[in-house]
Amino acid sequence: MNLFNVYPLFNINPVKAQGSFLWDNKGQKYLDFYGGHAVISIGHNHPHYQTQLKKQLDKISFYSNSVQNELQTELADKLGKLSDLEDYNLFLCNSGAEANENALKLASFHNGKSKVLYFSGSFHGRTSAAVSVTDNPKIVAPVNYDERFIKSEWNNIEQLETVFENQGSEISSVIIEGIQGVGGIMVPTVEFLTKIKELSGKYDAVLILDEVQSGYGRSGYFFAHQEFGIEADIITTAKGMGNGFPIGGVLIHPKFQASNGLLGTTFGGNHLACVAAIAVLDVMKNENLIENAQKMGEYIEGEIKDLPHIKTIRRKGLMIGIELDRDCSEVRNSLLYNHHIFTGNSNDKAVLRILPALNIKKEETDLFIGALKTVLENL
Ligand SMILES: Cc1ncc(COP(=O)(O)O)c(C=O)c1O
Repeated sequence: MNLFNVYPLFNINPVKAQGSFLWDNKGQKYLDFYGGHAVISIGHNHPHYQTQLKKQLDKISFYSNSVQNELQTELADKLGKLSDLEDYNLFLCNSGAEANENALKLASFHNGKSKVLYFSGSFHGRTSAAVSVTDNPKIVAPVNYDERFIKSEWNNIEQLETVFENQGSEISSVIIEGIQGVGGIMVPTVEFLTKIKELSGKYDAVLILDEVQSGYGRSGYFFAHQEFGIEADIITTAKGMGNGFPIGGVLIHPKFQASNGLLGTTFGGNHLACVAAIAVLDVMKNENLIENAQKMGEYIEGEIKDLPHIKTIRRKGLMIGIELDRDCSEVRNSLLYNHHIFTGNSNDKAVLRILPALNIKKEETDLFIGALKTVLENL
């Protein structure tokens, strides 16, 4: 059997990883400045994470959601404390798309409405409803198109008001990324977010903050929207939550009523996934990683901001978009093949996307800064 060929692959085969470094099968070392698409939050193979998972393997790896699992309660407790959202409730699932799928469904159960408002440049995942609110026609199949999904322009308050005036009574939820990642690191203005909050309250629409990429400390806040003091009705998370172990979460405001069978999943909240997610929170807390994300992000920006060919830098914490005066692919390839540094791109071809682990060290950022300088100065 062959693999279904959907991924354009680099000809690199990593076989080992530690902290912010990877090694391929030929022994070549790479600096990971992309965290495997924003997934590596506490560094590859963090010793605490490894120990906890290995210990759990000797106990129990899985049983279904029909029995008690104290690890789920411990995870919810620690997540509530670290994110300062102790009164929210947690539903555990397996990925970002699944978290959004459940959020959209829960909103619709809650208010009985069926329209969803989303924004240009958005990416919310590839499952049914999640891809319907994703602004990329290439990945939306005919089965996913429906006029119930309404697109409005990012950061455009006037258009937002018009949509609500015309269709507000039918809008079940508004879904928005804390910071758009795939869209090219686009930060919402505080005015825009505040208006969304106001209008969703006025029209009884549920405000869903997709923090799958921008959450878990990446922005220098636990969730990016918390910087603006906005209270979301539902928050979705995944990626950094398990540091590579598949897990997603839906954080649900206490006003939502749970009932048996309303949501469910086979694998969500399994023992191994919970142990991975608890280890991530322990390390984030004990090693002050949110603070480190703020500090290192500022440092990187300060060091690169005057380099040639950079038009703008859009950044919160360690979520960094470097907009060049051209397509970034030549720069990205040079960083990878000449300097052995992984970086990312985005739907905006000019934007180099930088998402290192939250415990990146200054000397590691200096490797990236030096390499970027060399590449940009030699374009
Ligand atoms: C903001 C956002 N939401 C949802 C998703 C989908 O997450 P997953 O790939 O885990 O389904 C992603 C993935 O890139 C994302 O960036």
